[in-house]
Amino acid sequence: MADEAYPHDLISHGAVWRTGGAMDKKVKKKVLQQIPYGAYIVGTQTEDGKDWLMFGTWLMQTSFKPTLVAFAFRKDSRTLANVRRSKSFAVSFLREGMQDVAELVLDGAFEKVKTERTASGLPVLADGAGWIDCHLVEQIPQGDHPIVLAEVSDAGPGKGKPIFLDSLGWHYGG
Ligand SMILES: Cc1cc2nc3c(=O)[nH]c(=O)nc-3n(C[C@H](O)[C@H](O)[C@H](O)COP(=O)(O)O)c2cc1C
Repeated sequence: MADEAYPHDLISHGAVWRTGGAMDKKVKKKVLQQIPYGAYIVGTQTEDGKDWLMFGTWLMQTSFKPTLVAFAFRKDSRTLANVRRSKSFAVSFLREGMQDVAELVLDGAFEKVKTERTASGLPVLADGAGWIDCHLVEQIPQGDHPIVLAEVSDAGPGKGKPIFLDSLGWHYGG
């Protein structure tokens, strides 16, 4: 209600929009961590042609026609540098029972992860729940995780059920 508004509240069309300093950081974190995320391995190649894998979660589809996805990559990640240079990346969907693969990738132990190659030459999980090959169409640079908008240029089948971040007991958000 308007008479409960703080001085820094903005009143617009009868709704009270509280801005800035009043936000409770713990609440913000708790609410944002309710956004459901998947668990993926992003495959790229380094400048000298080596396979590079990254565990990530911030992926969503944004268009049917053309088939577009958005992935938010950490600003300083080698994966983002690879994507910007090659204009491409592959996303493998981890399936139930593959938590160890997520941990191996986070540890940088790529040689212990069984991969195969897409027709475009990118590394994807050999035993995952499926994969997509993505071609960069646009970048949104704001924030600490710039968004890469990409067209899905190929897809491969997999087996099992995909896993979700929550079931790993992990969070990335807030
Ligand atoms: C639970 C979890 C989720 C993550 N999700 C993302 C993500 O969506 N995007 C991202 O760039 N990094 C994400 N990271 C961090 C990456 O796994 C990685 O450590 C970092 O980006 C460095 O990548 P690089 O090996 O390509 O340099 C996540 C890490 C964890 C532990």
